[in-house]
Amino acid sequence: MNTTPIQDQLKRPIRDLRISLTDRCNFRCSYCMPKEIFGDEYAFLPAREMLSFAEILRLTKLFVSLGGVKIRLTGGEPLLRKDLPELVAGIRSLSGVEDIGLTTNGVFLGQQAKGLYAAGLRRLNISLDALQPEIFGTMNGRGLKPSIILKHIDQARDIGFEIKINMVVQKGVNESEILPMAAYFKERKITLRFIEFMDAGNDNGWSLAQVVTKKEMLQSLRDVYELEGVEQDFYGEVARRYRYKDCGAEIGFITSVSESFCSSCTRARLSSDGKFYTCLFASGGTDLRALLRSGADDSRLLNVIRDVWERRADRYSDERQEHTAADRKKISMSYIGG
Ligand code: GTP
Ligand code: 5AD
Ligand code: SF4
Ligand code: SF4
Repeated sequence: MNTTPIQDQLKRPIRDLRISLTDRCNFRCSYCMPKEIFGDEYAFLPAREMLSFAEILRLTKLFVSLGGVKIRLTGGEPLLRKDLPELVAGIRSLSGVEDIGLTTNGVFLGQQAKGLYAAGLRRLNISLDALQPEIFGTMNGRGLKPSIILKHIDQARDIGFEIKINMVVQKGVNESEILPMAAYFKERKITLRFIEFMDAGNDNGWSLAQVVTKKEMLQSLRDVYELEGVEQDFYGEVARRYRYKDCGAEIGFITSVSESFCSSCTRARLSSDGKFYTCLFASGGTDLRALLRSGADDSRLLNVIRDVWERRADRYSDERQEHTAADRKKISMSYIGG
């Protein structure tokens, strides 16, 4: 079997595999699954179309053999998937996996954090867009209060998880929360990452005017705190990081809009129905489930994955303009998990 490392058209290797475990979510964040679109009638994937854990593990093993050593579990909301610790333990046991993280809205962590830790998960990225209950309730589309997520964050930290908080910042919606969120997580020494609002999917009504750029956010933080830049942790890291000089806690910015990071994008994405995507903003993917279920052997699957990656030339954020954001048909964020 040919498992030599591969590169795409822009000489980018595969280093990460982001696995979406479900397209469903208990939230309806306006920037991701607006209620008006994802209502009662919305056709989510039926169970038979979703990859089983055995299928996910088989594909993961192949991606790892090609260099995808960092695994991220996402959704929708991945904690909606039953028996998740089983999958975590399975991925942990694959040789070559160097890192496994999970991105969640945190609502179900109260019941699940201990089991996930016991299965070997150590890294959690938890989304939280505001401390102010009205703002958070409106943004999550379900009126849920931040106190529940804050409690789960503290519990997960006490269990031993390494935690990062993801805050999507949208102009006129939650920019007033930048400083309160910074103060709250600085005190707890938990890394907070400010994410520029992106034109993910086709339904979130994105426009450049609603983006608060890293430059603007950093300026308001620097008016209050002394911050210094920090070197990247690893090649292809999405966040630009800064450290508070007085306590060593960190913040980060995910700047897909104002400073794109496509040139070092090493991320392959697998949807819950087994499609392989080479960009978060892709219009189409390669159906690996059909191959799996028609009896393809590992070497055939590897050849397909290799071939798709070697043809990859995606650099959507480098090329983004208001008209491409509006015109291009894109997969939705909840389907592919960010
Ligand atoms: P770490 O391993 O902890 O650095 O995880 P991560 O930041 O890569 O993953 P996470 O799921 O927490 O994603 C944080 C934000 O980065 C989300 O808004 C993602 O949509 C965004 N993001 C992750 N990868 C990409 C990417 O390849 N392109 C773009 N444009 N955004 C990305
Ligand atoms: N722009 C930026 N980030 C987004 N996320 C979801 N939709 C968007 C968007 N339109 C974030 C979530 C989560 C991560 C996986 O992606 O808040 O933290
Ligand atoms: Fe759910 Fe995350 Fe999308 Fe919000 S951003 S609707 S929590 S998948
Ligand atoms: Fe990678 Fe596409 Fe994001 Fe660029 S826009 S960093 S190519 S996923």
